[in-house]
Amino acid sequence: MTTGAKFLRVIGVLVILGAVALLGVIFVPVQRTPAQVQVAADAVVVAGSGEYAMRLGDCMACHTAKGGVPFAGGYPIDSPLGTIYSSNITPDPDHGIGNWTLDDFRASLYDGIDEEGRHLYPAMPSDNYRKLSEADIVSLFRYLMDEVAPVASDPPETDLSFPFDQRWGLRLWKWVAYEKAGFAPRYDDLILDRGAYLVEGPGHCGACHSPRSALFVQSGYSPDDGDFLSGGVINGWAAPALRGPGSAPAIWDEAQLVAFLQSGRNNHAGVAGEMASVVEDSLQYMTDADVTAVARYLRHVATDANALATPGLRSGEATQSGTAAMLLAASPDMDLGARLYLDNCNACHFSTGFGADGVFPELVGNASVLADEPGGFLQVILAGAAMPSTATRPARLRMPSFGERLSDDEVAALATFVRQAWGNDASLVVAETVREVRANLPE
Ligand code: HEC
Ligand code: HEC
Ligand code: HEC
Repeated sequence: MTTGAKFLRVIGVLVILGAVALLGVIFVPVQRTPAQVQVAADAVVVAGSGEYAMRLGDCMACHTAKGGVPFAGGYPIDSPLGTIYSSNITPDPDHGIGNWTLDDFRASLYDGIDEEGRHLYPAMPSDNYRKLSEADIVSLFRYLMDEVAPVASDPPETDLSFPFDQRWGLRLWKWVAYEKAGFAPRYDDLILDRGAYLVEGPGHCGACHSPRSALFVQSGYSPDDGDFLSGGVINGWAAPALRGPGSAPAIWDEAQLVAFLQSGRNNHAGVAGEMASVVEDSLQYMTDADVTAVARYLRHVATDANALATPGLRSGEATQSGTAAMLLAASPDMDLGARLYLDNCNACHFSTGFGADGVFPELVGNASVLADEPGGFLQVILAGAAMPSTATRPARLRMPSFGERLSDDEVAALATFVRQAWGNDASLVVAETVREVRANLPE
């Protein structure tokens, strides 16, 4: 045989092996990841620990339709593939998970498969839940089986268009996305390790606060990856970077960070978007010790060596660059954006843009105002916003909506002004962007 023919034969064999490997990845059934430690399914769980684990994982928020029975599913999740409906996870044997074993349940969290081995869409954040401890899994299982009432109804069926309805393709996605199951403590510090577990595992903060690849795989599941928590986009809202010198955890002190996580407001910001339900349904239920662990871990990671050098978001630092004086002077030849601010926003957020602590958020250095993706900021102006109601801060303070009063051109001029006033330094907003956000406002 000539060398050329030999070479071709080798290539041919490699191509065939590659194809076989690929088919293997796709069609060989998923091996269920075993328990990380042994805890019997009927082990006595500490009273309340199952409900607590459920709060940490925020299961109820996603598994309850608006106005629906808790855990009966049917909550719609918009994904790039189409709308995905969450499942009924009540203990009903026919419509829910009543016949599931602990092993079936663990496989849904660790391996993203149902009891028949069908792949679940990653709208269910199993890529993050792979870090759940066995103790939390058993508590969750017992909670859903023993303390939740069965509901005999099916949520709407998820009906994606081809090829996304081909669930076997998700095998490939998981092959790329999944990291080793289980959580490995790494800090030699119980508080930091607890914070890491809560953020990276049940809290699935990275699902929104990390960027995603072209395959929609979350970039990084722990801080060794510089992309992890470096900022993402969810439903048109910027989920700000939680790392790097300009990020909130690097700049706010621990008490302010804790206040924000527990109540959705502090002396700097107020949650207005996708984060509001995270606070209301999950974070407010964390014990003081746990929320402190989360804050300490975030502050540690925000300034570690792998943190990307995000530009100083909050560099506006009280420089004011004449904006306050210009607004106070209220001269008739102020530009349109400044005039609209004075007429519509000044009463609450003030000419300094500093608002009032815990009541009216700062617009200076505010992550939503300055985000590259201004969708959330424009949504707040057009549709208003309401803070979550929590045990520590029950009042649902509201920002009124201005969508009816202001045209697209006016909102663009106003938003551009706010993004560039007081030392803020973000790009301008055009009317076309406002039009798109207005057309897609949630009801
Ligand atoms: C961000 C939204 C979201 C969160 C949070 C979430 N889920 Fe899910 N879950 C889903 C969606 C969507 C599905 C359906 C996926 C599909 O149809 O492929 C699902 C499916 C499941 C299933 C499979 C049910 C079946 O019949 O196949 C189980 C079990 C489950 N989730 C349990 C949980 C538990 C326990 C938690 C909390 C630790 C949780 N989920 C948190 C969105 C979520
Ligand atoms: C469903 C998506 C989602 C999840 C999950 C999520 N966040 Fe957020 N988060 C957001 C968005 C969007 C914002 C922007 C502000 C808003 O919604 O009002 C935000 C804002 C924040 C802020 C304020 C940042 C700033 O610069 O002002 C902090 C801190 C934060 N989140 C921490 C967390 C932590 C910790 C977790 C996990 C326990 C988490 N988030 C989970 C979407 C999410
Ligand atoms: C009546 C008082 C009031 C007026 C007027 C008002 N706001 Fe607000 N604004 C609030 C409150 C209260 C919040 C907190 C709402 C929340 O966090 O859900 C808020 C939140 C915001 C946020 C989100 C801040 C964050 O941390 O994410 C932005 C941005 C904002 N306002 C901009 C504006 C602009 C621009 C105008 C003028 C068009 C304006 N506001 C007018 C009361 C007001």
